This record gives sequence, C-alpha cells and structure tokens, in this order.
Amino acid sequence: MKGGVGKSTLSVLTALGLARRGDRQVTLVDMDLTGTSLADVLPLEAPAWPGNTSALRLLEPPAGFHSREATRERMDDRELLARQQIARDPESSGAFEARGVPFLNDFLLFATPDWDEQREMPVASVLWRMQDAPEQALRVIPSSALPSDLERILPVVFDENHSGFLENRLEYLLDALVPEQGESVVVMDTPPTIPGLSRSVLSLALRLSKPHKQHLAEQGGMPERLEAAPVEWTAFVVGSMDHQDIRAANRWLSLVLPEERPRIRFLVNRIPPGDELQIRGMLEDILERENAAGILLDAVTVREDVALQLFRSRELKDLPPDALDFLGGV
Ligand SMILES: Nc1ncnc2c1ncn2[C@@H]1O[C@H](COP(=O)(O)OP(=O)(O)OP(=O)(O)O)[C@@H](O)[C@H]1O
Ligand SMILES: [Mg+2]
Repeated sequence: MKGGVGKSTLSVLTALGLARRGDRQVTLVDMDLTGTSLADVLPLEAPAWPGNTSALRLLEPPAGFHSREATRERMDDRELLARQQIARDPESSGAFEARGVPFLNDFLLFATPDWDEQREMPVASVLWRMQDAPEQALRVIPSSALPSDLERILPVVFDENHSGFLENRLEYLLDALVPEQGESVVVMDTPPTIPGLSRSVLSLALRLSKPHKQHLAEQGGMPERLEAAPVEWTAFVVGSMDHQDIRAANRWLSLVLPEERPRIRFLVNRIPPGDELQIRGMLEDILERENAAGILLDAVTVREDVALQLFRSRELKDLPPDALDFLGGV
C-alpha cells in the first residue's frame, strides 16, 4: 500500500524460500522501476558475454556471470557511458545503447527500428543470479536505479498512455519464463501504491486467470506459450500496523470482486512480538465500523524480526525456519 512496509523484503524471502524447496524454477522480478534496485541491496551477479568490453550482446544468450566486484564496476560503467553518449548526442537520451550490465529496463523498453519476433531479446540476457543461492533454482531480474535509466523510464511509467505498453512487455516477459516442462514461479516486487506499475501487474494477473485468458486489446493476441500455460497467482497487499493504513487498504480491498478475493491476501508486516492479538482486534474493529471486506480478516501476519532484515546483511543463508510461514500453501 505504501513505501517502506516491507514489500521487497518479503518478495526476496518468498523467492529465496521457494527456490530452496528446489522443486520449481523461481524468478524474482523487480517491478519497482522507480525505487531502490535489488541490484543495490542484494549480492547479485550480472550475466556476462564473452570478451571484456562494456558492450552487451543482448540478442544472444549470455555465457556466464560476472563476479560481484565486476558487477559493481560495470553498473558504474553503465551510468558513465550513458552520460557520455547523451553528452555527445542529446537526442539519443530516449534510446541509448545499454552497456555494462543489463536490467529489466532493457527488456521492457527494448525496441529496434525493425522490431519483429526475430529481434526479441532472450530473457536469459536479463537473468542475474544471487550469490550463495541455489544456482539453478533462483534467478533475479533487477531494475535499474541509475539516474540515466530513471530519466528514460519515468515518462513511460507515469504516462497512463504507456500502461498498456508496459503490460504488453510484461506479457512477453512471462511468456519467456514459461518453462519447457514442470512449473515455474515468478515473484514480482511492486512499487508502493496500487496505480501505475502495480496496477499493470495486477491487471495482467487478473486477465491471465480468466477461464479464457483475456487479451490486452480486443483485436490483439497474447504471446503463444503464455496463452497456453495454466497460470495461478496470489497477490499480497502489504501493510503495516498503522490504523490509517489498514483503513486505506480496506477501502481498496472492498472493491475487489468476489471471484478475485481468494487470490488476494492482505499481509500485515512488522508486528512486534506479542501484538498478534492486538492486530486481530484492530482488524475486527475496522470490519465492524466500516463494513469491511472479508479479506481483512484473513490477514496474514509477519513479525518484526531483525533476522528478516535481508538488505543489511551480506549473508542470506541463515533465514529463520518459520520465515516463510506467511506463504501458507502457495
Ligand atoms: N518483518 C520485518 N522485520 C524487521 N524489519 C523489516 C521487516 N520487514 C521489512 N523490514 C525492514 O523495513 C525496511 C523497509 O523494507 P523494504 O525495503 O522491504 O520495504 P518496501 O515496502 O519494499 O519499501 P519501498 O516502498 O521503498 O520499496 C527495511 O529496512 C527492512 O529491513
Ligand atoms: Mg521495495
């Protein structure tokens, strides 16, 4: 619902935890394109192509990964080289050639003058890996928080006319993540508030869960593999114990259609030890006074716990055993 309530922390926990179960391929997607980049807070290693240049051969699958140190240096390169290019040719600021490391931004904004299926970027080009995490099971697609990338993506994110464009690019991303066989999990970390990017994610999820998947445009189609794949999803609406927050969440949740309710879980994060009863009382109180949506009462709670402060530590190995209880049967 708002900034700083723990969306990214819980997204990373979810992705890590599901990857550790080892039965499904897990991809964590950083949809908070205007916020902190997961590449800045997690020990991530960027995809690498042969040779030692800053150029990215995005149309070819990468050959391996850079070390943490090289990844950091190349992130700096990306900004530096973008600035140099913009200084040389100010007109190019809308479409500079990405260098250094690839981000989700490149997949979303990727368009060539002669765009066709053959020129679609393989999703492997933006799959980073998490140091120390189960190698095959967890992939991360971070977005960029570099100033030059923000300048490019902000007009797209905040222009309502582009929301269809982004949602369409998300379809292509999910299509590329449909596995050849078995199941695959995609965890999307969204920005604060429901409009904008979060709405694109939710809107796509809702369209995918219709018995006949609903197309973005009436005349349009949907990428083939995604169209054919059975899709299950759960949206966690994350809030804090703040009374105002919970009332705001309730107002939004009361608009959710009955058939969508089972897919949407309200999650109250950072509950001080011993306050579980208090929060239940608060939710019931709001329910009574505001004729609230039942979703509130089914709220999942996550306790305040320094062991869950992932972004401060460099070690992601020692998660408390019950860190994933909030996921229930997901
Ligand atoms: N259950 C928890 N216990 C203790 N600390 C937590 C918990 N959940 C989140 N935090 C801390 O709260 C802070 C904000 O968390 P996080 O960055 O995940 O929030 P966010 O909702 O993604 O923020 P933003 O809106 O800026 O993207 C971090 O310092 C994180 O470590
Ligand atoms: Mg976040």
